[in-house]
Amino acid sequence: MNRPPVLLRTLTDLRANTASWHSEGLTVGMIPTMGALHDGHLALVEEARRRVDRVVATIFVNPTQFGPKEDFTAYPRTENSDVAKLATLGVEAVFAPNAAEMYPPGHATTISLAGPALGLETDYRPHFFAGVATVVAKLLLGGFPDIAMFGEKDYQQLLVVRQMVKDLRLPTEIVALPTVREADGLALSSRNAYLSPDERRTAPKLAAALEATAAAIRSGGDVAHHLRQGFNALEAAGFRPDYLELRNAETLAQPAAVADQPLRLLAAAWLGRTRLIDNIAV
Ligand code: PAF
Repeated sequence: MNRPPVLLRTLTDLRANTASWHSEGLTVGMIPTMGALHDGHLALVEEARRRVDRVVATIFVNPTQFGPKEDFTAYPRTENSDVAKLATLGVEAVFAPNAAEMYPPGHATTISLAGPALGLETDYRPHFFAGVATVVAKLLLGGFPDIAMFGEKDYQQLLVVRQMVKDLRLPTEIVALPTVREADGLALSSRNAYLSPDERRTAPKLAAALEATAAAIRSGGDVAHHLRQGFNALEAAGFRPDYLELRNAETLAQPAAVADQPLRLLAAAWLGRTRLIDNIAV
């Protein structure tokens, strides 16, 4: 039986815990999450478990990454069952602060981004990455983990965090894991819980459209045409797509040509009131 994780509520306690592990010569891994943990999160925990001596998961529904009309209030909050899942994986600590701990009155600093943060999600959620980068910076500075784990499901987020860690010279290696999917291809996401049974049946068609579009691009021909076909396929399936775009996989710059560079196909689409995102390598 694993010991239950120690529950930390303040950045001071987070720092004291990780500092004491480091002083014993132990390595530390962090898994930043907003809770409502699914198997994608748990895969990140398991990989961290293999790589470092001590694992801390963070649970914080970060208000600054939600727009005024988004689902901040509705976002699932399941701390007790999250901590129970983390306990079964032998996580040593869970950092679950409240909003005042992360953003005390008078908090006035936000990270400003360019590079991989430009376009895609930012075109539709302009507040999003400043909120993510600011909270992730605070978490990494709170614990100085040796590694921090992120899923490729949020591919643009992963590249934004990597760029921020590089630019701010934070002493943490960002480790990415492939998207975990349901058997029918749907990428795991805490927001899948919002889908009605009908929508859930349609949802895997997002991954299917990405696969079909990537296959068409790989086989040659006019990329813009393939992207249009993919977009149309999403609409025909009942989605309201925000974007389906091909980007350089390392910079997220628009590729002038498809040859000789790693490529990523990224999409965001609404199904009813739920916004799904997904991406695949091309
Ligand atoms: O991916 C998420 O769950 C969040 O964006 C993160 C990285 C925990 C920051 O709030």
